[in-house]
Amino acid sequence: MRVITPKKYRDETWDFRKANTKEYTHRFHPYPAMMIPQIARRLLKEFGEGARLLFDPYCGTGTSLVEANLKGIDAVGTDINPLARLIAKVKTTVIPLDVLDSYLKDFNNFVFSVRLGKIRPDPTIPKFKNIDYWFKRETQYWLAVLKDYIDGIEDRDVRDFFKVAFSETVREVSLTRGSEFKLYRKSEKQIERFNPDVLRIMSEKLLRNREGMAEYIRAKRNDAKSEIYGFNTVHNIPEDILPPESVDIVITSPPYGDSRTTVAYGQFSRLSNQWLGFEEANEVDRRSMGGLRRRGIRYFDFKPLDEVIRRIADMDEGRAYDVVSFYDDYERSINNVSRAVRRGGVVAYVVGNRRVKGIEIPNDEITREFFERNGFIHLKTIVREIPNKRMPRRNSPTNVAGRTDLTMLYEYIVILKANGR
Ligand SMILES: C[S@@+](CC[C@H](N)C(=O)[O-])C[C@H]1O[C@@H](n2cnc3c(N)ncnc32)[C@H](O)[C@@H]1O
Repeated sequence: MRVITPKKYRDETWDFRKANTKEYTHRFHPYPAMMIPQIARRLLKEFGEGARLLFDPYCGTGTSLVEANLKGIDAVGTDINPLARLIAKVKTTVIPLDVLDSYLKDFNNFVFSVRLGKIRPDPTIPKFKNIDYWFKRETQYWLAVLKDYIDGIEDRDVRDFFKVAFSETVREVSLTRGSEFKLYRKSEKQIERFNPDVLRIMSEKLLRNREGMAEYIRAKRNDAKSEIYGFNTVHNIPEDILPPESVDIVITSPPYGDSRTTVAYGQFSRLSNQWLGFEEANEVDRRSMGGLRRRGIRYFDFKPLDEVIRRIADMDEGRAYDVVSFYDDYERSINNVSRAVRRGGVVAYVVGNRRVKGIEIPNDEITREFFERNGFIHLKTIVREIPNKRMPRRNSPTNVAGRTDLTMLYEYIVILKANGR
């Protein structure tokens, strides 16, 4: 008798319960819904034999790019969020330690002189909306001092390295509640007592990241590189960057819904983006998949998705528009990604299912279907539990404060192979 193994199954060995997710440069800067490095690493081991080019169409802070480069595989990533791109670039760019250390020494001397009053900087404090709402006046002064210092760093890679530590500092010294990805202000009482030492926090981040860079350099014994772009995979993938059928492996974790109702990447990054002067700062959530809501219902000729749309539309037509807009973009993006993958190449999408109006949307099935329509063959879907608190497990699907729902306890690693095209 032939034993048929189901292609979708729970596998605890992919939970990586006790894994250290902060090795190498992975420890730089938090970001919502990061992929854990162990997933990318194992996917590369099992499916990346002989691969020369990895592509991550939603690269965020570059987890898969770092892992590909560690294995000697070149990588291309894209993300519409400039902060994510900066972090991904810094995590994958080797700076010789002697160079880095000389800049860090200079920075220490600067801090020392400022503290002793030998230097009295007079920076211009940027003017952006709500700066006084999110930062105390004194904090604004110290951040501006740091920003001026960073702008004066000649070496571009070192300057970017400092910017990543600065961005994390911005977040920690702001009046946001630390544990939240969305921007919520601390209470008045907390604000009164909150007087962060901006220079000390910056120094700590720099030192921690320097150790991460040292580990990365020790582990990476090759000259593989990453290139990071800002193109939107919904619209196109520039052929001069990624010609058709050029990619050996895709490892990515796409957003699992529009930013208004799931993870607000733009909101998370807004304060850093404003301090760093990234102009598209307020555009990120609008440009994200499903960010431009189209009024209208369409169906996808795929029962599990169409049924969900029908049921949601019965309850709330507007929410159904959100869902349709997102999957419309998602389908286009998958069509574009498919074209870039070579015959025999592999794609692995790490997705979470979500609930809208209490109805679960099977993102794993939808991802599989959209790739199959492009001639891919489904190899398997691994179901893993999310042991690390990296995902906002509770969200408010009804958008009513206080009404929460448990979502995202499991995620799905959907793996397909490009064939017969
Ligand atoms: C789940 S996160 C990726 C996290 C990443 N794996 C990491 O470890 O940091 C999804 C990313 O998709 C990006 N994104 C959303 N819509 C996009 C689009 N249309 N094109 C490219 N990136 C997009 C968001 O800015 C976000 O950084």
